[in-house]
Amino acid sequence: MSLEWNNAYKIGNVEIDAQHQEIFRLANNFLNATNKGSLSVCAMGFFKHTREHFKHEEDLMKSLNYPGLKEHLVQHSELISLLNDVAKSIADDSLEMTDLEAFLSAWLLGHIGTFDKSLAAYAKLQT
Ligand SMILES: [Fe+2]
Repeated sequence: MSLEWNNAYKIGNVEIDAQHQEIFRLANNFLNATNKGSLSVCAMGFFKHTREHFKHEEDLMKSLNYPGLKEHLVQHSELISLLNDVAKSIADDSLEMTDLEAFLSAWLLGHIGTFDKSLAAYAKLQT
């Protein structure tokens, strides 16, 4: 199982694009984990990077007085709560890897392709 990064996913903000590429790399580690121990380690790495990445985007939105801030924050908190559900299902051995893949690909392609793209376009206009 893997989610392939494609340069078409770039949104035009160098820092955010690099972070997104790293998220893809971590997502693939996660999808290729084969036991509970490595799933937990991958989940922790993925969560840590995701939180830092969200904070980076949120700081940028605040500094720009971005009009879509509220909506984007809601998206981030929903994603964090879904990640918490994933952590719970790792803990109680109920995680289905096909569900994890569907969740990660919907998130990476959906969120990046819409919400993050709008943010990058707005940021570009302000510079
Ligand atoms: Fe975002």
